[in-house]
Amino acid sequence: SRRVTVRDLAAAKRRGERWPMLTAYDALTARVFDEAGIPVLLVGDSAANVVYGYDTTVPVTMDELVPLTAAVARSTQRALVVADLPFGSYQGSPQQALEAASRFMKEGRAQAVKLEGGHTVAHQVELLVSAGIPVMGHVGLTPQSVNTLGGYRVQGRGEAAADLLKDAKELERAGAFSLVLECVPSELAAEVTEQLSIPTIGIGAGPSTDAQVLVWQDMAGLSPKVAKFVKAYANLNETLREAASSFADDVVQGAFPEERHSYTA
Ligand code: KIV
Ligand code: NA
Repeated sequence: SRRVTVRDLAAAKRRGERWPMLTAYDALTARVFDEAGIPVLLVGDSAANVVYGYDTTVPVTMDELVPLTAAVARSTQRALVVADLPFGSYQGSPQQALEAASRFMKEGRAQAVKLEGGHTVAHQVELLVSAGIPVMGHVGLTPQSVNTLGGYRVQGRGEAAADLLKDAKELERAGAFSLVLECVPSELAAEVTEQLSIPTIGIGAGPSTDAQVLVWQDMAGLSPKVAKFVKAYANLNETLREAASSFADDVVQGAFPEERHSYTA
């Protein structure tokens, strides 16, 4: 069975079908999500936080993200694999963006890339698309700009709504195949979704976007501290903590390993 393509996602929008997206950063979880039928997997630069332990996405590099992308691509058969371009790898020029995106496509085997920003990255989007690289946009709360935004806060309220809608239209015009809307009022996300012909993917953007995305560790209840927009569908934090302490107890008490876990001479 072939991989999901950007054409499939365009068709889903025409048919009014909603779809889920999750992040993935390693072989085993990517495989689980692929087998669960998640059509799009994002190797997010949120790896900065959930894999590498940085407090923002600003420090993470291509050298850190490309191998994770390759792991996800190798371990999946059906999902469209999208790679986030990290801070500093694309803002400089369209040519810089093409070099970065090419690395994620060639070494990481991604089928698309994502970058943050509105009209300021339109030329980057145009060049990548003309080079044959599908681009997912990302507006609203763009974590790579946390230092200019002054924190992680809702975007596009009041007068800022019109600018966000303009940015969204500009990204569509530049050729983006889809657009992440992060942390924006539901009404604005609904308006953008209606006005664009490409799918919108919401995170903290209410129920009206064409798709929804969550960081998988948030979705599965592994992350210790999450935003209001997260719903935890499992409690992996507790499950793993209990497993680790049971293992620890068994080792201390000599209850593990048993004979069935051991080899004879
Ligand atoms: O890096 C990430 O995980 C993301 C999604 C939350 C959209 O950009
Ligand atoms: Na990201």
